[in-house]
Amino acid sequence: MATINALDFTVKIDKLQKSQFVAKTYSDELSSNQVLLEIEKISFTSNNITYGVVGEQMNYWNFFPTQSGYGIIPAWGLANVIISNHPDVQVGQRFYGYYPMSTHLLVTIDNVSSKGFMDNTEHRQALPPIYNFYSNTEQDPTFTPETEELISIFRPLFVTSFLIDDDLADHNFYNATQILLTSASSKTAQALAFLLANRKKENGLNFNILGLTSDKNVEFVKQLGWYDQTISYDEISRLDTNEKSIVVDFAGNHNLQFRLQTLLSDKLVCNCLVGLVDWQNLEGEKPLPRKGAFFFAPKQARKRQKEWGLVKFQQKIGEAWLQFIDVTQSVISIKEHIGTEKLKQLYLDMLSGKIDPKYGNIVI
Ligand SMILES: NC(=O)c1ccc[n+]([C@@H]2O[C@H](COP(=O)([O-])OP(=O)(O)OC[C@H]3O[C@@H](n4cnc5c(N)ncnc54)[C@H](OP(=O)(O)O)[C@@H]3O)[C@@H](O)[C@H]2O)c1
Repeated sequence: MATINALDFTVKIDKLQKSQFVAKTYSDELSSNQVLLEIEKISFTSNNITYGVVGEQMNYWNFFPTQSGYGIIPAWGLANVIISNHPDVQVGQRFYGYYPMSTHLLVTIDNVSSKGFMDNTEHRQALPPIYNFYSNTEQDPTFTPETEELISIFRPLFVTSFLIDDDLADHNFYNATQILLTSASSKTAQALAFLLANRKKENGLNFNILGLTSDKNVEFVKQLGWYDQTISYDEISRLDTNEKSIVVDFAGNHNLQFRLQTLLSDKLVCNCLVGLVDWQNLEGEKPLPRKGAFFFAPKQARKRQKEWGLVKFQQKIGEAWLQFIDVTQSVISIKEHIGTEKLKQLYLDMLSGKIDPKYGNIVI
């Protein structure tokens, strides 16, 4: 029997700035139906930080448990099978899915199809199945060396953007004439702005798409070409407050919400809360005049699956995705972070918002 050395990147649950690498070993003698994957690369965006911020409320720490008081942040990426004790999974196969920020993942598999497998490890069974499925990249032609990193970064975010755009269209955009996206430089906001801009063009719709962003990101947001107007947080008083408005909030900043709700007042016809990138400013002194509603993607997904059928639902997302990935290749440059020190630095930079939105970050 041989042992395989592994490493987990763990963060302190009540103080996310504190992290440590934890060494562990796996035996090469696996129980029946177990498979050991070596993680090759993962994507990392503020969405992963949000997993940590809401880890306890939303059970994100339960995917990959570690020592008490610490958690492992999940991340989307690619891994290769290095040992298999399942008859239908072979060494060398490569799977896309939800991985720990670690070197390895041990899974227990029940059924395998040509598309992939579900991890049935006991502690994951109560968690949403979408996170427990691993796709066989050989069976998915969209995974090419040119696109697989963009897929890891954007695919989990894009589906939410698709569903927000679809939900707003479903409500006839609340007859709004302006749609404001906060943290407009974030990748989820980029995808939403792209979808809204396309829908506006195709259907001759009459709303303006406004990006709200930090001063340092104004130029990046402007050159995307999907927002009709870009305004920095400092210039928020320039907003036209006479227009019926939708806010889609990716920032989660309390004071920004306060200002938007106060400025727009009863012209704010829909306040859609999606993200918490500004996680250190979720609280503020002044209570919010009105509340918004958290966007719950599975609800709109279920509605459309029922109305359109699963095949058409997936086809529509697939078509929109291909258009988006085609243009985003020229917008985002992939930046690779190799080794533990670079991983830790990227994590700390992401935590404090010291990141350049033009990069798509991949940890190897
Ligand atoms: N509910 C859902 O189903 C769902 C699905 C997908 C994403 N989301 C959420 O949407 C948000 C965006 O995720 P993403 O992965 O697209 O983000 P991202 O691309 O990594 O966002 C980067 C941008 O966020 C802002 N930012 C990042 N860190 C910050 C910090 N510490 N303090 C202040 N601003 C910071 C900056 O934008 P600005 O300068 O433009 O403000 C930065 O350019 C996340 O909170 C994510 O969890 C939710």
